[in-house]
Amino acid sequence: MPTGINRRWLLAKRPEGNVEENNFRWAEGPIPSPASGQALVRNLWISLHPTAILAISAPESEGGIPLGGVMQGNLASQVIESRLPGFEPGDLVDGFCGWEDYSIIDGGGFIPTRKFSPDIPPNLALGTLGVTGMAAYFGVLEVGRPRAGETFVISAAAGGVGSVAAQIAKIQGLRVIGIAGGKEKCDWLLREAGLDGVIDHRSEDVGKRLDELCPQGIDIFFDNVGGAILDEALMRLRQNGRVVVCGGTSRYGAAVHPPGPKNYLNLCMINGRMEGLLAKDYLPRFPEAVAAMRSWIQSGQLKSKEDIVVGLENAPAAFARLFASANVGKQLLKIADPPLPLRSEG
Ligand SMILES: NC(=O)c1ccc[n+]([C@@H]2O[C@H](COP(=O)([O-])OP(=O)(O)OC[C@H]3O[C@@H](n4cnc5c(N)ncnc54)[C@H](OP(=O)(O)O)[C@@H]3O)[C@@H](O)[C@H]2O)c1
Repeated sequence: MPTGINRRWLLAKRPEGNVEENNFRWAEGPIPSPASGQALVRNLWISLHPTAILAISAPESEGGIPLGGVMQGNLASQVIESRLPGFEPGDLVDGFCGWEDYSIIDGGGFIPTRKFSPDIPPNLALGTLGVTGMAAYFGVLEVGRPRAGETFVISAAAGGVGSVAAQIAKIQGLRVIGIAGGKEKCDWLLREAGLDGVIDHRSEDVGKRLDELCPQGIDIFFDNVGGAILDEALMRLRQNGRVVVCGGTSRYGAAVHPPGPKNYLNLCMINGRMEGLLAKDYLPRFPEAVAAMRSWIQSGQLKSKEDIVVGLENAPAAFARLFASANVGKQLLKIADPPLPLRSEG
């Protein structure tokens, strides 16, 4: 049983619009002890993802995190003490925990706690090989159903999901156009990720550039943001075009939701399909995706782009980076290295 304090971030007030650091309050307390059916974990890395704003905006009666409660998220952790069958001290796990040094887990949560192999760095297991990468993999392959030679367009292309999905589409032999905010993101997409074209939505007219870069139209639009960019893509879908609805970051912080897409009726004219995706529904197939993506990383076909902030004290600021569009790649926060020797069986 470790001694010391448990530093943690509590929800201080619900956001009015986008996330700000004062939505959270720092607290310190004792390290908890696991009861029967529980384990104590040392938290190592936090995955910051835009959807978490929904969990702090919603009232408690609608499943939101209670005011004064510990902020929750997807973390990589190491088991320190276990009274939970199947989990041993030293195991590395990926699951839902608090933004804190130590958490008590029972193996459940939005996505059940999963062990990962000690030969995968925790940041990679949590990001590109975690839920973020799973959304990209199954979104492109299962919902997009790509065919080589097709034109694939993606929004928030340099973000966590976007950077992986764009490269998976390239690996499948598609022509890939990424939409992202700012020169640094667009440069990375062209030079490092090897995309065929980019649109900087901060400095360019997205519709005009889509006309230039996709003169025959779009076969697959992978949407991470919704809003005006989704409308531009809907208008340019080709016959049998598909829209993969992965997320809608432009809507998450909106106090009043803007009306839905104007151009959705084009789906009717082109026999198109617009389909949502929830990565957790593919949980039984995560190992298949991890194996495929590890081999792409090893062969250099897939680059895992990470934007790392260090220190639990910086978690709210790291979270706010997503809504300020500051992150290039997957936004992660490092809390600590594993304190125990790693267990060799994953
Ligand atoms: N369906 C699933 O199972 C699943 C799983 C994981 C994530 N998701 C969703 O996938 C999307 C991407 O997640 P992620 O974790 O990879 O985050 P991310 O794309 O790295 O998120 C941040 C990016 O979103 C863009 N953005 C921020 N505020 C915006 C606004 N108001 N309007 C439009 N764009 C804005 C910015 O990119 P630019 O600067 O390029 O505009 C920013 O860098 C999110 O919508 C998330 O909820 C879905």
